[in-house]
Amino acid sequence: PVQYLSNYRPYPFAVEETRLTFVLNPDDTEVRAELALSPVDQNADLVLDGGKGLRLIALGIDGQEPDPAHVSRDDERLTIAAAALPDGPFTLATTVRIDPSANTAFEGLYLSGGMFCTQCEAEGFRHITFYPDRPDVMAPFRVRIHSDLPVLLSNGNPVETRQGFAEWHDPWPKPAYLFALVAGDLRAISDAFQTASGRDVALNVWVRPGDETRAGFAMESLIKSMKWDEQVYGREYDLDVFNIVAVDDFNMGAMENKGLNIFNSKLVLASPETATDLDYERIEAVIAHEYFHNWTGNRITCRDWFQLCLKEGLTVFRDQQFTSDMRSAPVKRIADVQTLRARQFREDQGPLAHPVRPDHYEEINNFYTATVYEKGAEVIGMLKRLVGDEGYARALDLYFDRHDGDAATIEDWLKVFEDATGRDLTQFKRWYTDAGTPHLTMTEEWDGKGGLVLHFEQQTPPTPGQDHKPPRVIPIATGLIGPNGDEVAATRVLEMTEARQSFSFDGLGARPVVSVLRGFSAPVVLHRQIDDATRAFLLAHDTDPFSRWEAGRELALSALTALAQGQDAGDDFIGSVARLAAEDATDPAFRALCLNLPGEEEIATRLSSLGHVPDPDAIHAARDGLATRLAQANHELLDRLYQDMAVDGPYSPDAQPAAKRSLRIAALGLLNRIDGGDRAEVLFGTAGNMTERMAALACLIRRGRGQAALDAMLDEFGDNRLVMDKWFSVQVMAAPSDDAAAIAERLSQRQDFDWKNPNRFRALLGGLAANHAGFHHAGGAGYAFTADWLMRVDAVNPQIAARMSTAFETWPRYDENRQQLVREQLQRVAGLTDISRNLREMVSRMLEAK
Ligand code: ARG
Ligand code: ZN
Repeated sequence: PVQYLSNYRPYPFAVEETRLTFVLNPDDTEVRAELALSPVDQNADLVLDGGKGLRLIALGIDGQEPDPAHVSRDDERLTIAAAALPDGPFTLATTVRIDPSANTAFEGLYLSGGMFCTQCEAEGFRHITFYPDRPDVMAPFRVRIHSDLPVLLSNGNPVETRQGFAEWHDPWPKPAYLFALVAGDLRAISDAFQTASGRDVALNVWVRPGDETRAGFAMESLIKSMKWDEQVYGREYDLDVFNIVAVDDFNMGAMENKGLNIFNSKLVLASPETATDLDYERIEAVIAHEYFHNWTGNRITCRDWFQLCLKEGLTVFRDQQFTSDMRSAPVKRIADVQTLRARQFREDQGPLAHPVRPDHYEEINNFYTATVYEKGAEVIGMLKRLVGDEGYARALDLYFDRHDGDAATIEDWLKVFEDATGRDLTQFKRWYTDAGTPHLTMTEEWDGKGGLVLHFEQQTPPTPGQDHKPPRVIPIATGLIGPNGDEVAATRVLEMTEARQSFSFDGLGARPVVSVLRGFSAPVVLHRQIDDATRAFLLAHDTDPFSRWEAGRELALSALTALAQGQDAGDDFIGSVARLAAEDATDPAFRALCLNLPGEEEIATRLSSLGHVPDPDAIHAARDGLATRLAQANHELLDRLYQDMAVDGPYSPDAQPAAKRSLRIAALGLLNRIDGGDRAEVLFGTAGNMTERMAALACLIRRGRGQAALDAMLDEFGDNRLVMDKWFSVQVMAAPSDDAAAIAERLSQRQDFDWKNPNRFRALLGGLAANHAGFHHAGGAGYAFTADWLMRVDAVNPQIAARMSTAFETWPRYDENRQQLVREQLQRVAGLTDISRNLREMVSRMLEAK
């Protein structure tokens, strides 16, 4: 059944306290729950969520078993009729038995490598016990755990710990989705933090024995996050302990359970030999993200799941700010825009497009998307730009003051901005309610005597269920660069509110070059009349680093789209990007970003938004050709960079050495096209860090000489899951398009392709989907292979199946032949007996497109 935002009703009971007792056994765990309830509406039945997997053993109201005639149960709920309930407060006690060892969906209580753990967001708690499993029902929790396992953890503060037993108390009222329990043979690395107001907090990162040496960076990241949130947002931690646990089987990245964050082990464990610079940066960001949720998510949570972006958009925005402060702000911004375009624009362009705040869904797990998270963060960035840094700070203070302890809505969020700044946000709200990426067209009018008028037009294409899109507020950060390369007008935010609107600049000496949408001030597709020479000028002179990079990007994309359509292009790009790469005073990370060509997926998206049908083979050939020309024309420069950017001494994941490595690798990737792979072979054998080794490995595979390196890696790291995930994915990602599906197929037959592990599954299937020309091979083998696995994994883990199905989300933009091939596969999947709600919803939304 479809859930609608407009159907929201408050829960008719308050939960004053939740007391849980677990007797843990792998295949037979007993869960006793006592809920102290008070009726808000005297006539309401008591409806509790609880799935088929709960074996109900006992049920009591104030110690009495209710008349069975008043109790009913279906596949999803337990209902106790109002007639069987006392008028005032009462205690409901249930005892259920569950089987964690059979839980392959990793939702609720499950086992991972002998360790008990939980994942309850969004609706996992209902697989543990009967409960009002909705975010607006909040209660303090008391949890007792009986088990012989040495480490027993839950939320809040420890009350008692002895052999075989632990009790935890979380005084902060929370919804069930923030509940967590962990039990296992774990080791901690520990530290301490004193908050600004003097509270001593014990910090632990819990890992499996043997992994302790790889947990230090996570701990450092946690401490940095705690400090940063105090300094920048004035937010302090509020319990005596903060625990992080690394788990090998985890459906997503990590989870912000109160006082007990649970992480996918790939986002905790890192050592120079096993993790890349990018892994380190992600660990730092996700540790921060989950920590920041303590205020934006936990202390203030969501009223219902339609409001998911309230906590996720804001928390992503906060973790982006954090990374900008820890590392390079321009480089972070560029990386975030790249991700947004690669994932969110892609989503918005196809059948799965939805608003940042959706108004209906069938399965909420399908809405943990780039739109809710990344576009949700962009919307906050726009708000901040519109109200200014001070206005933003005042609004946030008011938000924390006014809503601490609440389950809030987007309306509440916008209201604090209105009250703190006096601005009317009625029109701005469309960014939350309307799906789709606006297209913004700019034209220039120069009067020849110092006046420049910029004309803008906005238009948002229809998305499923939303045909008509009224104009939005678009903040357009704009500056002007004079003909000699100096900035003649500093950044000014043009606030567009109409479908068409003009802005003028006066008193200019000569016609300037417009630097528009600086910092990517709004998540829109920009169209402007501009030639390659002007783009090259901006790449050389723009004072806004994002716009500078963007000019290079546009130069590359204009060349690549022309080449993909059989035209001749690229010399301007090659010349100007080489000049930039040679600028020794410029941040190497920035130079690397400019040197890396847009990926094939991005080229396809661009062609499609220009109204063309992307041809994956032509795109692949165009990109290959341009990169090779770039390498040939700058062979000496690239070789110099490759040598200069070598980092000596012990490995450090800090921004500066990582930046040098990123430029070194960019140079290597280009040189690899003309040196036959010789440099990569040397580097693979000598590099002391995973960043360079993985880059070298990918290069060798691309030259068709990766086997020895792959064998060496298997030898060295065959027992390290995280490294083996990389080993699987690089082989399909770097495979020639003709062979990608066959290679994936062969790898899938290996003993160590443990497909029930989400990371391993994603490494292989996600690796194939990331090989654009390979996945979209005209023979259809990539599509068929993916569909086969979706059907197989769906029976075991619906969330993973549904997530992976987005590999198909762009299908309507390809040619008839490919469309037909995908349609057949999607129909085959749709016909699966016992298909999950998760996968069914995704496939039917995708099929409705055409
Ligand atoms: N709240 C978690 C985070 O963003 C993610 C939970 C994802 N849950 C899900 N069912 N997909 O930090
Ligand atoms: Zn989050």
